[in-house]
Amino acid sequence: MTQPVWLSERVQWIGALDPTMRSFDIVLKTPNGTTYNAYAVRGSEGVAVIDTVKEACAEQFFTRLEAVASYDEIKVIVLNHLEPDHTGALPELMRRAPQAKLYISKSAQLMLKALLNQQDIDYTPVGTSDTVSLGDRTLRFLHTPYLHWPDTQCTYLEEEYMLFSGDVFGCHFCDERLFNDKVGDFRFAFEYYYAHIMRPFREHVLNALAILEPLRMNIIAPTHGPILRDQPKRYMQRYRELSGQRLQSEVNADEKTLVIFYISAYGSTTQMAQMIRAGAEQVAGVRASLYDMEGGDADLFVDLVEDADGILIGSPTINGDAVKPAWDLVSSFAKINVRGKLAGAFGSYGWSGEAVRMLEDRLRGLKMRLPQSGVRIKLIPSSEELEECRRYGQEAGEHLMGVNAPRVLDMADLLASRQAQV
Ligand code: FEO
Repeated sequence: MTQPVWLSERVQWIGALDPTMRSFDIVLKTPNGTTYNAYAVRGSEGVAVIDTVKEACAEQFFTRLEAVASYDEIKVIVLNHLEPDHTGALPELMRRAPQAKLYISKSAQLMLKALLNQQDIDYTPVGTSDTVSLGDRTLRFLHTPYLHWPDTQCTYLEEEYMLFSGDVFGCHFCDERLFNDKVGDFRFAFEYYYAHIMRPFREHVLNALAILEPLRMNIIAPTHGPILRDQPKRYMQRYRELSGQRLQSEVNADEKTLVIFYISAYGSTTQMAQMIRAGAEQVAGVRASLYDMEGGDADLFVDLVEDADGILIGSPTINGDAVKPAWDLVSSFAKINVRGKLAGAFGSYGWSGEAVRMLEDRLRGLKMRLPQSGVRIKLIPSSEELEECRRYGQEAGEHLMGVNAPRVLDMADLLASRQAQV
């Protein structure tokens, strides 16, 4: 199939099918392949092309585009997002339609220059409430950054109540029937895409929903996967549900949650974790939970981490390193936003004890807040060392609640404050 597909009398899908792709951006699995959705909008005074496709699929795109418009009719090119899967065909499109004006979001400007590797590009930066007229059709731009790059925007076709949403509401699911009421069951792909692409930016998702939800909506046309023409607002509602706090009803507004993950070879790190929890629970308003990483997996724990105010990780040192479940947990943090959350590490060790510092470095690298130095204990904790763990937990709780806890400055803090003064 290389024909365009009509969304309405004036709007056509001119994208590309990529059914054999099996992973995307290295990290995403794509068992159904994907689509790169691009669209043509015809007004009484010209044609707009909204987004393009991956370079390797450009032939499909140009074949479909030529079936609905000649190049000299193209007055407008809109890029809602500059990632190469949507801009791969742009240089050739600009060569074939040199008169077309290019519209991008204000935050996309530097990226565009880097992407095309040239400085003298003629483009118009746009933001919310800016419009471009095609005569009897009007495109309105909506600033929806960080979904999932800083540059992202949506474009609304006012006369047809149609939203070209970029990656938002998209998914990697290739089915040439294209429309959500025609394709197979793509719920898994939709949820998987949200979890891996949008979830780290869920605050920005909520900001975007505040702009998009009031709009009348006949069709949501994303850049990947099915075009959502049957009950499009259902997908907005699902984004709102997925972006909400799952544990909201479990924790009162004046409480803070501290989740303590640990794993232990001979029980010493377990004892430490238990005492840390006991210390944290001495602070009014702290709800502390213990999870043994041996009994779960990182994909399940990541929900807890996302909703927690503080996360402590306990790992023994084995062969000069923290153990794999601890690293698996930390690497799962890439799926969510942990910036600014309180964090810390602790653990017992036999002779070298590198695990705590290594975990702390990684947590700091994720821009988490580490106000205390972690607790390291050699072999089996003594009663004095368990008391140290209790104090560590108490101070973590006090930091969470904003109580004046003694602060241990680390080198990163000192360097950052010195750099700020320079
Ligand atoms: Fe589909 Fe973020 O590119």
